[in-house]
Amino acid sequence: MNTWYFVHVSDIQPGSPRSFRFNPRYYENWQIAREQIMRLKPELMVIGGDITRDGSVHDFEFQEMKASLDSMQIPYRAIPGNMDTGNKHTVKQGPRPERDDIGLNVTSEQLRRFSRYFGEFPWSFVHKNVRFSGFYAALAGSGLPEEKRMWQWLEDLKKLEPAQHHIMTIHYALFIDDLEESNFDITKPEEYPAWYFGIDQPYRRHIFEAFKAGNVNMVFSGHIQCRRPVQAIDSIQFYKSAGIPFSQFDDRWPDGDPTLGFYHCRVTDDEVDVIFVPLERESTATGGWGKGGHIKPEDRDYSLAQPDWSSGFSKKK
Ligand SMILES: [Fe+2]
Repeated sequence: MNTWYFVHVSDIQPGSPRSFRFNPRYYENWQIAREQIMRLKPELMVIGGDITRDGSVHDFEFQEMKASLDSMQIPYRAIPGNMDTGNKHTVKQGPRPERDDIGLNVTSEQLRRFSRYFGEFPWSFVHKNVRFSGFYAALAGSGLPEEKRMWQWLEDLKKLEPAQHHIMTIHYALFIDDLEESNFDITKPEEYPAWYFGIDQPYRRHIFEAFKAGNVNMVFSGHIQCRRPVQAIDSIQFYKSAGIPFSQFDDRWPDGDPTLGFYHCRVTDDEVDVIFVPLERESTATGGWGKGGHIKPEDRDYSLAQPDWSSGFSKKK
């Protein structure tokens, strides 16, 4: 089989000037990444969630990003991220007063809204010699009907027709430092970020076992927006992905790399070569409005929105 290429891009979230918050730097970074990806002409693009900044509350952000992705003329499949739907399920509040963690729990309605724009998930399909699969693990422990479907889908991975490679796309990292690490405590300020970024036990172990049974040999996760050198556990390689708009958690690991960009993957008969492509330049745009983070609904000030905003940064002539 001839060598072929796909792109894995995650955490795009450019936001929209119609929103209560907007950062032109995030917006321009997506335009830069988008043009780079188009120039590479991959056969396929896999998107690891957080397509939108606030798709969880705005249909218009889904509409804008669907138009942006569709017009790239590259076939793509996407899983949701927490900014598109809702956060990882919790029954406890965290320590940040501006954030209602329980109120941010993912809901069925949010998941359905994502599917209306970007299709049903979980999904699994074969392209040439690679099986690609994707799902939203933040559902674990939620009790939602979609969670039941997720566990069944994971159980059934082992029944799928095998391909030469099996590449899994998830949004939350399956683990922060190590597969066997203890759960982080949402109530402790110093552990909150690690709680926020990863999947807890016992779900983590169940998911890992399903990956092994399903012959998954490569996992891409997003959400953290800071890369690390690939980690191999048993026969599975785990890749943490960069973000497009900004980086996070940069201070967690000495070998963490906050460079913005995406993965360009070369597939041969024998291997999948994962090549990181940094943004060829990072936006220096200034301005913008609104509060960042997971703020409460009453803190969203839509009087700040500038629906007629047009970019002042460089555009292709
Ligand atoms: Fe995320």
